[in-house]
Amino acid sequence: MKLNDIAYCILAVTVTIVTATSNEPFTVKTFQHSIQNRYLEWWQTAVFYQIYPRSFKDSNNDGDGDLQGIIQKLDHIQDAGIDAIWLSPIYKSPQVDNGYDISDYRDIDEIYGTLDDLKELLKEAHARGIKVILDYVPNHTSDKHAWFQASLNKQEGYEDFYVWKDPVFVDGERQPPNNWLSAFKGSAWEWSEERQQYYLHQFSIGQPDLNYRNPNVVREMKDVLKYWLDFGIDGFRMDAVPTLFEDEQFRDEPLSGKANVGPEDYEYLDHIYTTDLNETIFMIYQFRQVLDEFNANQNDSYSRIMMTEVYSDIDTTMKYYGTVDGSIRGAHFTFNFWTFITYLIKGVDPFELFQSITLWLENIPRLYTSNWVLGNHDQPRVATRLGPENVDALNMLVAILPGIWVTYNGEEIGQENGEVTCEQGYDPQAIKNCSTFNETSRDFERTPFQWDTTVNAGFNEGAPTWLPVSKKYLETNLENQLPADINSHYNIYKELIKFRDVFENETETSLLINAQVNWFRFLRIPNSDHIGYAFIFNINDEENVVPDGFASSTSEVIVRSSNSPYQIGDTFNLTQPLKPREAVILKMNMR
Ligand code: GLC
Repeated sequence: MKLNDIAYCILAVTVTIVTATSNEPFTVKTFQHSIQNRYLEWWQTAVFYQIYPRSFKDSNNDGDGDLQGIIQKLDHIQDAGIDAIWLSPIYKSPQVDNGYDISDYRDIDEIYGTLDDLKELLKEAHARGIKVILDYVPNHTSDKHAWFQASLNKQEGYEDFYVWKDPVFVDGERQPPNNWLSAFKGSAWEWSEERQQYYLHQFSIGQPDLNYRNPNVVREMKDVLKYWLDFGIDGFRMDAVPTLFEDEQFRDEPLSGKANVGPEDYEYLDHIYTTDLNETIFMIYQFRQVLDEFNANQNDSYSRIMMTEVYSDIDTTMKYYGTVDGSIRGAHFTFNFWTFITYLIKGVDPFELFQSITLWLENIPRLYTSNWVLGNHDQPRVATRLGPENVDALNMLVAILPGIWVTYNGEEIGQENGEVTCEQGYDPQAIKNCSTFNETSRDFERTPFQWDTTVNAGFNEGAPTWLPVSKKYLETNLENQLPADINSHYNIYKELIKFRDVFENETETSLLINAQVNWFRFLRIPNSDHIGYAFIFNINDEENVVPDGFASSTSEVIVRSSNSPYQIGDTFNLTQPLKPREAVILKMNMR
């Protein structure tokens, strides 16, 4: 969608929330907020598509996806209508944590290609109107990075580039300086024989934490941002930002008191001294300044943007956007993991959905842009997590929600988790204990993209792939879903992206959410118009007619799930039951 340069006098977002259970009358809750003199920029209504490069397309048949592979598939991305791609890390890396351990921030790993390949990708993507976002990993480098090697040897200028601490001795035995834990289990401290000190790693041992209290580190990391901006990229997805700073006094963290977690598990402690420190949030504001300065010096009118990865409580999550009054800006958006990932404990439950959407809308400061994320490379695929029967409905819901839509590659075809054994796996947190691999591994959501029915699902020409191709590829693949006359996940995904154009001139929107046993409705009325768009979903294993008041007899079907008998343009039949998990988006006359 192209929404650039739409002048907004007043954008009033009125959110009216209606709750109901089957026997209770509706209770109504309303709140309003307004945005003045806004211009909607390209990213505020964009569909972002996360590419996991190693698993997307292998152009040279060596088993690993690469940049030339992405270039080959740009037509697919353009065909879908996607506005921007975000690439998980492609930099030089020993691949201890699949590229999130970077040994050179300014170069490309040979797995993926060269800087020239990236230049070509940028040129080809831009020629198709697609923006390119790179992953930026500020918290840690690889232990093979030249800075860490210099720091190990206390080379002048690098002594404090990382977080080094002396041991403590208990009964004469050397111990780490405090109880801090790694997100990947066990102590966050690793002993260095060479330096005779511990270093901090909030993730794997091969990912030492940079010391953000050292201004030279901050300067270097800002230079990395500038380097890529000069290179021509359109923005950054900022990795694991809550962990940038730690407590200066290195105090022990308190126990979380959570049930069913062992002392080695990250959840065992409450991370008040290692995550979301004020200094960390201010650092994000500083990174934003780097982008803003760059943007201000360009002759074009579009912003390079940053999006931050934050799994924190909702209040803290919002702080990464900036101050409530907008006087200090942070991330252009910080991923909304709440609505569809962290919150939905019962799966697709109408009341949980109601609450999780409301939670986000009620908490986002009025100046900032919402976003909706169904999955990523760290979460079981949405089709597996929330059920393959819900794939269309979830994409439909995300498409009608106001703001940004973030897709993880494969979601457009309903790809499920693959099958991987511990011996085949790569995820560092999982392969260290095969007995819990099935519960902890993120390899399942990282198996190759399923393009077609040929060998290795068309990912390559038959060479053994780095992670196995899922056996499900013969049924679930893009090629099967391409014919224009079938109502496939992919065709629905495309229709949904086009459908969002109806909101192009929206200066004001009213949202209404209805949840009741087995049913969910989300109604969006742009510009207080007489036309509204309603997403209606039968969250049940039985068919049923839609509840009274959900639709009108003149409603027109705009998009429908793949199990629906409706054709686009049909008049919705109030007496025809919706099938189990059938969902529709209707255009309704609101008068
Ligand atoms: C982020 C990444 C994840 C990685 C971690 C450490 O959470 O998404 O894949 O393991 O950071 O860099």
